[in-house]
Amino acid sequence: MIFAALLGVLSVSAQADTLAAPPVLKNLSTAPHIVEVTLTAAPARLALLPGKVTDVFAYNGRVPGPTLDVQEGDSVIVHFQNQLPESTTIHWHGMHLAANMDGSPLYPIAPGARTDYVFKVGEGKAGTYWYHPHVDKRTGYQVAKGLYGALIVRAAKSPLPAAIPEKLLILSDNRFGPDGSPDFPDPNSPAGQVDMENGREGPVMFVNGQVGPTIVIKSGEVQRWRVINASAARVYRLAVPGQTLLWVGSDGGLFEKPEAVQDIVLANSERVELLVRGTGAPGSEAALVTLPYDRYDTHTRPADWNQSHDLVRLVYAPTPPVTPVAIPDVLRPIPALDTTQVAATKVVTFTQGLINGKAMDMNRIDLRSRLGTTEIWEIDNLVGMDHPFHLHGFRFQVLDRNGVPERVRRWKDSVNVPRHETVRLIVNFDDFAGKWMFHCHILDHEDEGMMGVLETY
Ligand code: C2O
Ligand code: CU
Ligand code: CU
Repeated sequence: MIFAALLGVLSVSAQADTLAAPPVLKNLSTAPHIVEVTLTAAPARLALLPGKVTDVFAYNGRVPGPTLDVQEGDSVIVHFQNQLPESTTIHWHGMHLAANMDGSPLYPIAPGARTDYVFKVGEGKAGTYWYHPHVDKRTGYQVAKGLYGALIVRAAKSPLPAAIPEKLLILSDNRFGPDGSPDFPDPNSPAGQVDMENGREGPVMFVNGQVGPTIVIKSGEVQRWRVINASAARVYRLAVPGQTLLWVGSDGGLFEKPEAVQDIVLANSERVELLVRGTGAPGSEAALVTLPYDRYDTHTRPADWNQSHDLVRLVYAPTPPVTPVAIPDVLRPIPALDTTQVAATKVVTFTQGLINGKAMDMNRIDLRSRLGTTEIWEIDNLVGMDHPFHLHGFRFQVLDRNGVPERVRRWKDSVNVPRHETVRLIVNFDDFAGKWMFHCHILDHEDEGMMGVLETY
């Protein structure tokens, strides 16, 4: 019986994804609109690199961690336990919550300690987010050791037809020593210096912790992919060669309408939602690839920067084509933040390792913003490599890049600022007084001090 069942699985395996989504965290509450879960960060013995079991850090014993899947309006309670041998936090990247629930380096959880993260998910916040540690100077290390996971917020009613199947793709990369454990060179070695400059990249590229998984699509089928860049430093330029992608959302959820594009640059910590249309013939094959993207300073640009890499095999089922579902032209309104009601304009300059000429000091407040006001922030990258800007707690809209107005309005919490470019964004500080991080999301840069503190009051 068991063998027969196994054979059955094998015979259909050509038509099943090998890409596996992390399990969804189990809701312990039965009350409506309450999501209560437990998360533990602990050392584990797992294979990050397939075939080599080593010492890793894991949320609930797996990498990536389980997915926190909630709805707009839910109250979320996360019972967190730190069983790591070092302090950590959980930062809910992109969430709008009380400052002391944000998991910033100001609120470390000691080894062996427990805490509850409690926050309410607002209306209109449906989108793809993620969670990761954010402890002082150790974020890059803890993420590389295996600590990262997805957070999905759903609307009560999505404008996209329910018939569209959904896939989650958490992208990460890593570099390993001969024993299969993450490789961290001595910071003073030449390799360590290159990591510091570029941010730590690795040659092994993962999707949900898997290398080269398969997604099966039917000819004619439309799939919704939520993609998260959980890499410390690698920037992806996503494409399915031979296909036009329908870009429908970014960090803070869906756009007003789908945008047809050939490729999408996805910087560190950014997310996108795509509609992938099965335009290929039954039995054919395509791939999700990352195309070359030059984010580097010429001195430390890796020799293979101009190579493309396959991330996912896209396999067409050998079954007859299906009729594509109709994709709505209108997704949801995104009201523009009012540029005529701006209380202050702030300038944030990026140089290598520094923001406004300073390295991070947790005891210093760099910027202050009054609650209930809207501000324009101008992010100036003064150096010869890209730095992705991220603001905690408050989503924003990009106004222009180098003076060129942004064509598509979208909710963002991270934006790549290419070398020697300027990005202007608009943000409303509606509520939650406290201290918030803003930083470059290349984790090596953030750990090195390319971060500042904003106080809302
Ligand atoms: Cu993804 Cu300061 O965080
Ligand atoms: Cu964040
Ligand atoms: Cu940077």
